[in-house]
Amino acid sequence: MNPIQLFDPDSCTYTYVLFDEASREALIIDPVDVQLERDLTVLREHDLRLRWVLETHAHADHITSALWLAEHTGALTAAPAACGIVTVHRPLQHGDEVTFGSQRVRALATPGHTAGSMSYFWERATSQGVQRHVFTGDTLLIDGCGRTDFQSGDAAALYRSITEVLFALPDDTVVWPGHDYRGRTHSTIGHEKAHNARVAGRTLDEFVALMNGLNLSRPRRMDEAVPANLHGGIRHDADGAALDAPQPADGYAGDVPPAVAWDWVQQGRAVLVDVRTDAEREWVGYVPGAVPLAWKQWPGMQPNPGFDDGVRSLLRGDGRPLLMLCRSGARSIAAARRATELGATAYNVLEGFEGDLDEHGQRGRRGGWRYRGLPWRQN
Ligand code: FE2
Repeated sequence: MNPIQLFDPDSCTYTYVLFDEASREALIIDPVDVQLERDLTVLREHDLRLRWVLETHAHADHITSALWLAEHTGALTAAPAACGIVTVHRPLQHGDEVTFGSQRVRALATPGHTAGSMSYFWERATSQGVQRHVFTGDTLLIDGCGRTDFQSGDAAALYRSITEVLFALPDDTVVWPGHDYRGRTHSTIGHEKAHNARVAGRTLDEFVALMNGLNLSRPRRMDEAVPANLHGGIRHDADGAALDAPQPADGYAGDVPPAVAWDWVQQGRAVLVDVRTDAEREWVGYVPGAVPLAWKQWPGMQPNPGFDDGVRSLLRGDGRPLLMLCRSGARSIAAARRATELGATAYNVLEGFEGDLDEHGQRGRRGGWRYRGLPWRQN
């Protein structure tokens, strides 16, 4: 089966894995945090290499595993630009295409459930002819549609998205919804046009009146889920601090997983400092925006006499915490300790550029900055 449809029973969320049969490159839509192991197993069992993690919108009813999946597989994340997800690697506009192997999906702006919501259209040539699929998130559900009473929802916009964008697709297009609460798996555009109880036969005004009169209860996980989903699935407390950062460490401020480190950098809350040698930056690559400040240097990996002055000059800046990043997480601990002695709030980025510790502190999975879908570049 391609797409592979997966279900999270707690939130009734459907997650989809689409793949290119020849190259085994894959894309996943709307993954759920508690299903991370399942999704990694599905990818492994089907021998798939995940290229993209897509979101249809910033969900209110479950937390995405987007960044965790990216970190485990080296995939990049993509989401509608208008959703404001700050950790996203590739913000999407209407009409953008995301490719995996020889396949491509097209982003369709379908606002209404949220202002940023998108659907993804996949036209796939097979030996039986062209198959068309659309992944509608919470815009169009089977015999229903997403709610529009919170999170920038807009019933009139949803009506237009369904009737003018989705219903403009060929009738035989298979509709794969973001949820179903009654065990139904898929539908077609033709069927929804004729039978969808919310939309079929209703005018814009009738639809808006219906949606505004639904009086639904608030999603139970909304306050937790939306802020986490705006950060790729990383949970934050009420003060905006990432909750997945481990405990303070001996002699420096603490150990920070790469995803959290990158989150802090993007929010401007910390400065990323690359303490590898100049030669490593040249050979292996670097994280854009990281301040180069070697802890040791070739030849012979001698201590860098300029390290202390480099830290002092960073401290004279705005005093933001420093995130020390090296190859394996050894030099970065030493550098964080020294920077702490010099008066900095300094963290060690766990396992550095190439480590294999996962976000839950377990070894044995390929991790590391360069593999985790976090940005790095080669010269
Ligand atoms: Fe939703």
